[in-house]
Amino acid sequence: MKKIITIDGPSGVGKTTIGQEIAVKLKYSFFSSGKLYRYIAKYIDDYKITNYKHIEIKIDNSGSCFINEKKYNDNELYNKKINQYSSEIAKDPLIRNLIKFTLLNYYEDIDRGLVIEGRDMGSVVFPNADFKLYLDADEETRGKRRENQSGSQETIEEIKQRDHKDMHREESPLIVPKNAIVIDNTNKSKKETVEEIIEKLKLL
Ligand code: DC
Repeated sequence: MKKIITIDGPSGVGKTTIGQEIAVKLKYSFFSSGKLYRYIAKYIDDYKITNYKHIEIKIDNSGSCFINEKKYNDNELYNKKINQYSSEIAKDPLIRNLIKFTLLNYYEDIDRGLVIEGRDMGSVVFPNADFKLYLDADEETRGKRRENQSGSQETIEEIKQRDHKDMHREESPLIVPKNAIVIDNTNKSKKETVEEIIEKLKLL
Protein backbone atom coordinates (compact mmCIF):
# COMPACT_ATOMS: atom_id res chain seq x y z
CA MET A 1 0.00 0.00 0.00
CA LYS A 2 1.42 3.40 -0.91
CA LYS A 3 1.81 5.84 1.93
CA ILE A 4 1.51 9.57 2.34
CA ILE A 5 3.51 11.82 4.65
CA THR A 6 2.34 15.39 5.14
CA ILE A 7 4.52 18.29 6.29
CA ASP A 8 2.85 21.55 7.31
CA GLY A 9 4.25 24.68 8.86
CA PRO A 10 4.94 28.39 8.29
CA SER A 11 7.27 29.85 5.64
CA GLY A 12 11.01 29.42 5.92
CA VAL A 13 10.87 26.41 8.17
CA GLY A 14 12.49 24.11 5.58
CA LYS A 15 9.44 22.10 4.52
CA THR A 16 10.61 21.79 0.91
CA THR A 17 14.30 20.94 1.44
CA ILE A 18 13.54 18.56 4.32
CA GLY A 19 10.57 17.01 2.50
CA GLN A 20 12.65 16.43 -0.64
CA GLU A 21 15.39 14.68 1.35
CA ILE A 22 12.93 12.43 3.11
CA ALA A 23 11.26 11.57 -0.21
CA VAL A 24 14.65 10.62 -1.73
CA LYS A 25 15.50 8.42 1.28
CA LEU A 26 12.14 6.64 1.09
CA LYS A 27 12.02 6.57 -2.75
CA TYR A 28 8.72 8.47 -2.59
CA SER A 29 7.55 11.31 -4.84
CA PHE A 30 7.66 14.83 -3.43
CA PHE A 31 5.30 17.73 -4.06
CA SER A 32 5.10 21.27 -2.75
CA SER A 33 1.42 22.31 -2.68
CA GLY A 34 2.33 26.01 -2.51
CA LYS A 35 3.42 25.66 -6.12
CA LEU A 36 -0.22 25.37 -7.22
CA TYR A 37 -1.17 28.52 -5.28
CA ARG A 38 1.75 30.24 -6.98
CA TYR A 39 0.65 28.95 -10.41
CA ILE A 40 -2.86 30.32 -9.94
CA ALA A 41 -1.61 33.65 -8.55
CA LYS A 42 0.71 34.11 -11.53
CA TYR A 43 -1.98 33.13 -14.04
CA ILE A 44 -4.62 35.43 -12.51
CA ASP A 45 -2.12 38.26 -12.48
CA ASP A 46 -1.00 37.66 -16.09
CA TYR A 47 -4.46 37.24 -17.61
CA LYS A 48 -6.54 39.30 -15.13
CA ILE A 49 -8.92 36.36 -14.64
CA THR A 50 -11.95 36.92 -12.40
CA ASN A 51 -13.89 33.75 -13.13
CA TYR A 52 -11.94 30.84 -11.68
CA LYS A 53 -14.23 28.29 -13.37
CA HIS A 54 -12.09 28.71 -16.48
CA ILE A 55 -8.96 27.58 -14.69
CA GLU A 56 -7.81 24.00 -15.25
CA ILE A 57 -4.77 22.98 -13.27
CA LYS A 58 -3.02 19.63 -13.31
CA ILE A 59 0.09 17.85 -12.11
CA ASP A 60 1.55 15.12 -14.32
CA ASN A 61 3.18 11.91 -13.02
CA SER A 62 6.60 13.54 -12.97
CA GLY A 63 5.31 16.39 -10.75
CA SER A 64 5.22 19.07 -13.50
CA CYS A 65 2.29 21.50 -13.29
CA PHE A 66 0.17 22.99 -16.05
CA ILE A 67 -2.48 25.70 -15.85
CA ASN A 68 -4.74 25.76 -18.90
CA GLU A 69 -1.89 23.86 -20.62
CA LYS A 70 0.60 26.59 -19.69
CA LYS A 71 3.78 25.86 -17.73
CA TYR A 72 5.74 28.42 -15.67
CA ASN A 73 9.42 28.43 -14.72
CA ASP A 74 10.32 28.55 -11.02
CA ASN A 75 11.77 32.07 -11.30
CA GLU A 76 8.34 33.32 -12.45
CA LEU A 77 6.72 31.78 -9.35
CA TYR A 78 9.23 32.18 -6.53
CA ASN A 79 9.64 35.95 -6.28
CA LYS A 80 8.57 38.82 -4.04
CA LYS A 81 5.33 39.57 -5.88
CA ILE A 82 4.07 35.99 -6.08
CA ASN A 83 5.09 35.26 -2.45
CA GLN A 84 2.51 37.78 -1.26
CA TYR A 85 -0.08 37.36 -4.01
CA SER A 86 -0.26 33.55 -3.63
CA SER A 87 -1.04 33.99 0.07
CA GLU A 88 -3.75 36.53 -0.85
CA ILE A 89 -5.57 34.32 -3.38
CA ALA A 90 -5.22 31.34 -1.00
CA LYS A 91 -8.05 32.84 1.09
CA ASP A 92 -10.55 32.01 -1.66
CA PRO A 93 -12.57 28.81 -0.97
CA LEU A 94 -13.07 28.12 -4.71
CA ILE A 95 -9.34 28.19 -5.34
CA ARG A 96 -8.64 26.04 -2.26
CA ASN A 97 -11.17 23.48 -3.44
CA LEU A 98 -9.76 23.38 -6.95
CA ILE A 99 -6.28 22.76 -5.53
CA LYS A 100 -7.52 20.17 -3.05
CA PHE A 101 -9.03 18.03 -5.81
CA THR A 102 -6.00 18.49 -8.05
CA LEU A 103 -3.81 17.13 -5.22
CA LEU A 104 -6.16 14.23 -4.44
CA ASN A 105 -6.17 13.21 -8.14
CA TYR A 106 -2.41 13.50 -8.32
CA TYR A 107 -1.98 11.18 -5.33
CA GLU A 108 -4.44 8.71 -6.76
CA ASP A 109 -2.55 8.56 -10.07
CA ILE A 110 0.98 8.06 -8.75
CA ASP A 111 2.14 4.57 -7.87
CA ARG A 112 4.78 5.51 -5.26
CA GLY A 113 4.39 6.94 -1.78
CA LEU A 114 4.22 10.73 -1.47
CA VAL A 115 5.75 13.38 0.76
CA ILE A 116 3.71 16.56 0.38
CA GLU A 117 4.17 19.91 2.09
CA GLY A 118 2.02 23.00 2.59
CA ARG A 119 -0.27 24.70 5.10
CA ASP A 120 -3.28 22.40 5.22
CA MET A 121 -1.98 19.05 3.98
CA GLY A 122 -2.51 17.12 7.22
CA SER A 123 -5.51 19.10 8.41
CA VAL A 124 -7.73 19.37 5.31
CA VAL A 125 -6.42 17.74 2.13
CA PHE A 126 -5.04 14.45 3.54
CA PRO A 127 -6.53 14.20 7.06
CA ASN A 128 -5.95 10.41 7.05
CA ALA A 129 -2.27 10.64 6.10
CA ASP A 130 -0.02 7.84 7.39
CA PHE A 131 2.34 10.28 9.08
CA LYS A 132 1.81 13.97 9.79
CA LEU A 133 4.52 16.45 10.65
CA TYR A 134 4.36 20.07 11.68
CA LEU A 135 7.67 21.93 11.40
CA ASP A 136 8.23 25.15 13.28
CA ALA A 137 11.05 27.59 14.06
CA ASP A 138 11.14 31.07 15.55
CA GLU A 139 10.43 34.04 13.26
CA GLU A 140 13.95 35.43 13.27
CA THR A 141 15.48 32.09 12.27
CA ARG A 142 12.95 31.59 9.51
CA GLY A 143 13.49 35.11 8.23
CA LYS A 144 17.26 34.63 8.13
CA ARG A 145 16.89 31.33 6.26
CA ARG A 146 14.62 32.96 3.68
CA GLU A 147 16.87 35.99 3.23
CA ASN A 148 19.72 33.61 2.45
CA GLN A 149 17.70 31.78 -0.22
CA SER A 150 18.57 33.35 -3.54
CA GLY A 151 15.53 34.37 -5.57
CA SER A 152 13.12 34.45 -2.65
CA GLN A 153 14.01 38.01 -1.55
CA GLU A 154 11.64 37.77 1.41
CA THR A 155 12.36 39.85 4.48
CA ILE A 156 11.44 38.95 8.07
CA GLU A 157 8.69 41.58 7.93
CA GLU A 158 7.21 40.08 4.74
CA ILE A 159 7.35 36.58 6.22
CA LYS A 160 5.45 37.83 9.28
CA GLN A 161 2.74 39.36 7.08
CA ARG A 162 2.38 36.19 4.99
CA ASP A 163 2.27 33.90 8.03
CA HIS A 164 -0.30 36.14 9.64
CA LYS A 165 -2.52 35.86 6.55
CA ASP A 166 -2.00 32.08 6.30
CA MET A 167 -2.76 31.51 9.99
CA HIS A 168 -5.73 33.81 10.37
CA ARG A 169 -7.78 33.27 7.22
CA GLU A 170 -11.20 31.71 7.59
CA GLU A 171 -10.68 28.94 5.05
CA SER A 172 -8.19 26.17 6.01
CA PRO A 173 -5.85 28.29 8.12
CA LEU A 174 -2.40 26.98 9.01
CA ILE A 175 -2.83 24.91 12.18
CA VAL A 176 -1.09 21.96 13.79
CA PRO A 177 -3.06 19.04 12.29
CA LYS A 178 -4.63 16.48 14.61
CA ASN A 179 -2.11 13.73 15.49
CA ALA A 180 0.80 15.61 13.89
CA ILE A 181 4.29 15.32 15.34
CA VAL A 182 5.64 18.81 16.00
CA ILE A 183 9.35 19.48 15.47
CA ASP A 184 10.83 22.87 16.29
CA ASN A 185 14.04 23.11 14.29
CA THR A 186 15.11 26.61 15.41
CA ASN A 187 18.40 25.24 16.72
CA LYS A 188 18.68 22.21 14.46
CA SER A 189 20.45 21.80 11.15
CA LYS A 190 18.64 20.41 8.12
CA LYS A 191 20.57 17.13 8.59
CA GLU A 192 19.54 16.84 12.25
CA THR A 193 15.90 17.51 11.42
CA VAL A 194 15.89 14.89 8.62
CA GLU A 195 17.53 12.32 10.93
CA GLU A 196 14.99 12.98 13.66
CA ILE A 197 12.11 12.50 11.21
CA ILE A 198 13.58 9.28 9.80
CA GLU A 199 13.93 7.92 13.36
CA LYS A 200 10.29 8.76 14.08
CA LEU A 201 9.20 7.15 10.81
CA LYS A 202 10.86 3.89 11.87
CA LEU A 203 8.35 3.71 14.72
CA LEU A 204 5.49 3.62 12.22
O1 DC B 1 4.70 27.14 0.46
P1 DC B 1 4.72 28.39 -0.42
O2 DC B 1 5.53 29.51 0.16
O3 DC B 1 5.15 28.08 -1.82
O4 DC B 1 3.20 28.85 -0.48
C1 DC B 1 2.80 30.05 -1.07
C2 DC B 1 1.47 30.49 -0.47
O5 DC B 1 0.44 29.57 -0.89
C3 DC B 1 1.39 30.51 1.05
O6 DC B 1 1.80 31.75 1.61
C4 DC B 1 -0.07 30.26 1.32
C5 DC B 1 -0.52 29.41 0.15
N1 DC B 1 -0.60 27.99 0.52
C6 DC B 1 -1.74 27.59 1.17
O7 DC B 1 -2.60 28.41 1.50
N2 DC B 1 -1.92 26.28 1.45
C7 DC B 1 -1.00 25.36 1.14
N3 DC B 1 -1.22 24.07 1.42
C8 DC B 1 0.20 25.76 0.50
C9 DC B 1 0.37 27.10 0.22
